[in-house]
Amino acid sequence: MKKLLILNSKGGCGKTTIATNLAGYYASSGTHTALIDQDPQGSSRRWLELRPERFSDIHGVFAGKPTQAGVTRAFAMRVPGETQRIVIDTPASMKRLDMMDLLRSASAVIVPLLPSAIDRHVTLDFLKELTTLCRQMGLDIPMGIVANRVRLNTRSFKHLKEILEHVEIPLVAYLRDTQGYVHAAEEGCSIVELKDPAMKKEMMQWSALIYWLETGKIPPHVQQREPAPVKLQA
Ligand SMILES: Nc1ncnc2c1ncn2[C@@H]1O[C@H](COP(=O)(O)OP(=O)(O)OP(=O)(O)O)[C@@H](O)[C@H]1O
Ligand SMILES: [Mg+2]
Repeated sequence: MKKLLILNSKGGCGKTTIATNLAGYYASSGTHTALIDQDPQGSSRRWLELRPERFSDIHGVFAGKPTQAGVTRAFAMRVPGETQRIVIDTPASMKRLDMMDLLRSASAVIVPLLPSAIDRHVTLDFLKELTTLCRQMGLDIPMGIVANRVRLNTRSFKHLKEILEHVEIPLVAYLRDTQGYVHAAEEGCSIVELKDPAMKKEMMQWSALIYWLETGKIPPHVQQREPAPVKLQA
């Protein structure tokens, strides 16, 4: 069972979009998937409530509310025994102690990042904080950046890639700014499940992200090549 944590203290950078799309990707490829919503705003929970029955089942856990007295966080976050992938959506500005708690059992961390200067600065500070925290905790968790709402061939994306060459956390996928994500969110499905031929380039990026999560290797998409499909393991 792998726990995939979507983290960034910056609001609105795409944590819920990535969490729900990742859960939808895994579920649609036959993997037993759980989606844990740690955000009191409950956006991932609402997405799951919208999810039509024709799509593969995702086990939902809403852990955004304070736990009752005598209930541990681990108990509040329990998932069915057959679960293979747990995707965890987190709130902006999460408390340090809560973040430490989630990091302890994480198999990988995905940090969404918007290309604008404001977001870049805040996220680069967050990455420093995160790597320092993991070092202090003695954790060596694979971490990857997903650039989100990217417009290819823009100066801000070019600049972002240049900056990321000097950051120790790799860029593992870039998601375009597209209405496909807005439609998928309204339908309670992932962009992969929309099966829209216009989203072919986007599928490559999801394959790239899965490739990194499953193999730990930087996806070949960085060289603009389509990554080989990977077999999902329990
Ligand atoms: N790649 C994308 N293309 C188009 N719209 C996007 C994309 N990614 C996110 N959005 C939109 O941007 C908004 C913010 O995204 P999202 O809710 O995923 O961010 P968040 O980090 O979860 O925010 P919060 O910190 O408030 O929880 C949403 O309206 C979402 O539909
Ligand atoms: Mg969110």
